Amino acid sequence: MTDGFTITVDGKPVAAQPGETVLRACQRAGISIPTLCDDKRLDPAGACRACLVEVEGQRRLQPSCAWNAVPNQVVKTQVTSPRVQKHQDLLVSLYMADHKLDDSGLPVETCNGNDLRAWATQCRPVALEPVEAPRAARPGDKNPYIQFNPELCVLCARCTRYCDEIEAVNAITLTGRGSETTIGTAGMRGLLDTTCELCGGCIDTCPTGALVEKKAIEFLPHHIERKVRTTCNYCGVGCQMDLNVARVDGVEKVVRVTSPPPGETVNDGNLCIKGRFAYDFIHHKDRITEPMIRKADGRLHAVSWDEALKFAAEGMNRVKQRHGPGALGFISSARCTGEENFLMGKVARAAFKTGNIHSCAAT
Ligand code: SF4
Ligand code: SF4
Ligand code: FES
Repeated sequence: MTDGFTITVDGKPVAAQPGETVLRACQRAGISIPTLCDDKRLDPAGACRACLVEVEGQRRLQPSCAWNAVPNQVVKTQVTSPRVQKHQDLLVSLYMADHKLDDSGLPVETCNGNDLRAWATQCRPVALEPVEAPRAARPGDKNPYIQFNPELCVLCARCTRYCDEIEAVNAITLTGRGSETTIGTAGMRGLLDTTCELCGGCIDTCPTGALVEKKAIEFLPHHIERKVRTTCNYCGVGCQMDLNVARVDGVEKVVRVTSPPPGETVNDGNLCIKGRFAYDFIHHKDRITEPMIRKADGRLHAVSWDEALKFAAEGMNRVKQRHGPGALGFISSARCTGEENFLMGKVARAAFKTGNIHSCAAT
């Protein structure tokens, strides 16, 4: 790491690194600056103006998300600068005039949260004449997973930048002019008729819930009782995912899958279509959830794991005794973890003395 330096934020020293933005240095130091268009995974856009701060020597307020820290810089946030707070009060009011509000006059909560709502509660918004959002939706979009609510869009372009910079797909783009600017596709087609891979990353990055998962619309963040961190089992990459658990009709159910925040796990906040959306099998009525053995009556019977493992071991030992270890073969899976595949190798080679082991990942 190159030598760091110090800047002053609200009168306190804050450590920074060369090439780092003022926002990142402040976030690391626990200094709260509101943001809408910022995402660690994306290049700075400086689009939403929520993060403006006073930088000594600069006539105008500057976007901390796109302004590099330099040694001895002096910065003021809304905590010590009435000018920054005044800017935020007006800006949040402008956003709210063009945003769906709830009965309490705050930006509506969504199943994907709403950062504008959280920010508005920290400001003193002034009541402005509401404007009818002229942004177009995509009513013909029949894709099964992603819903776009234009009345909640703040045009931060995180979704389009994510689609471009992370997925390299460019299925969605800012389209239209002025107040009619919206998130569109080529010819305003449905996502299924574009290059979209339905990764859902645009939902993940959207700060206001303008993009949400259709299946999760009925569940607001406060419905989620807990999140269970687990490893995706659709392939061997090892992406981490959070199973969002809610109580439905008195029973705990996984109602949504989200990625851990960027920078925490190997997948850096990203998931693919299977990891993010293909979780219906968890509670499917046909899912086999306990081991079964076919008994003398020719039917499958549920048994304990101990009984099932004993039954399998005895059967394989019989084959080995009668025909030798070469008669046994083991097939493992890329859907298992590295540890599980290692153990399968041990069972084949050390326990049954055969090298007949294969994984679907090898073909
Ligand atoms: S789901 Fe993924 S590929 Fe499709 S528009 Fe969103 S970010 Fe782009
Ligand atoms: S849909 Fe969401 S992420 Fe995309 S521009 Fe609108 S608010 Fe930003
Ligand atoms: S977060 Fe800095 S301009 Fe949007």
